[in-house]
Amino acid sequence: MARGKQPNKPQRTPKVHRAVVTRTVDDFEAAFWPDEQPVDNAVVMTMGALHEGHAALIRAARKQVGREGRVAVTVFVNPLQFGPGEDLERYPRTLDDDVRLAEEHGADVVFAPSAEEVYPNGEPQVRMAAGPMGERFEGATRPGHFDGVLTVVAKLLHITDPDFAFFGEKDAQQLAIIQRMVADLDFDVEIVGVPTVREEDGLALSSRNRYLSAEDREHALALSKALFAGRDAAAQGPKAVREAASAALDGAEGVTLDYLALIDPHDFSEAADDFQGEAVLAVAAKVGPTRLIDNVRIIVR
Ligand code: PAJ
Repeated sequence: MARGKQPNKPQRTPKVHRAVVTRTVDDFEAAFWPDEQPVDNAVVMTMGALHEGHAALIRAARKQVGREGRVAVTVFVNPLQFGPGEDLERYPRTLDDDVRLAEEHGADVVFAPSAEEVYPNGEPQVRMAAGPMGERFEGATRPGHFDGVLTVVAKLLHITDPDFAFFGEKDAQQLAIIQRMVADLDFDVEIVGVPTVREEDGLALSSRNRYLSAEDREHALALSKALFAGRDAAAQGPKAVREAASAALDGAEGVTLDYLALIDPHDFSEAADDFQGEAVLAVAAKVGPTRLIDNVRIIVR
């Protein structure tokens, strides 16, 4: 028996808020818009394999719309944003657990459509274009990735028609590009960014962490350590930030660096040496066979 449990005390089951699971756009609309009541609503878009990072987004969405508002979580592994040789086929699919986590943290409706439901005409002929912001950093390594992300985000915004949509700072470039799409193309939604959730030792939570062996998991800590070292040098300017982060990664075992960059978050370009203000220090690397990304927001002086 677990320590501290009293044998005869009846265990109270926590009241679980249940979420409706929908697979089609029609069912989703009927569940998310059951009546014409004008309540605030929010969407959290995911590819599933939900963890505490996603949970933080769902809780933030619930907090934003209040008890009376509605929160939808979409679970869709979007083929358009995966390149050849990436992990589309083996991306973890754990819908039952995802539904449980989503409802525990306050979702009313889970929308988990098939690829045919989202793309009934096959691959879309017309897509969103992320432009130059989508060609740097993640976009340089993953050509077309952000066009695929924006295309599905635009579609899911049309289907869910929310007042608020929540995205994680963990994917800083994705968040910046989505914010730009909404501003540049007059989408009627407020995009809200949520800080990165980390393990106690600093590792940023990611659905891809489950690919890491125990040894890779240890090696992966070099990424957040480098970002924190860069952050500690923020008062000394951009050069010092880059040097501190880069020194921390030098010789890191089991890590193949893709990029380490100090970025101006407005247009997601490399920050100049005299840059001042809020910046994103971002890193991408392969740890064993798994590609990981991470970043921290810092104020550079
Ligand atoms: P996915 O990787 O499942 O992430 C869904 C959302 O959770 C994203 O906004 C992401 O930034 C956020 N997130 C992931 N890990 C996080 C962490 N540790 N802390 C805080 N937030 C975290 O990003 C996607 O899916 C897709 O590209 C999507 C936007 C759903 C379009 O297909």
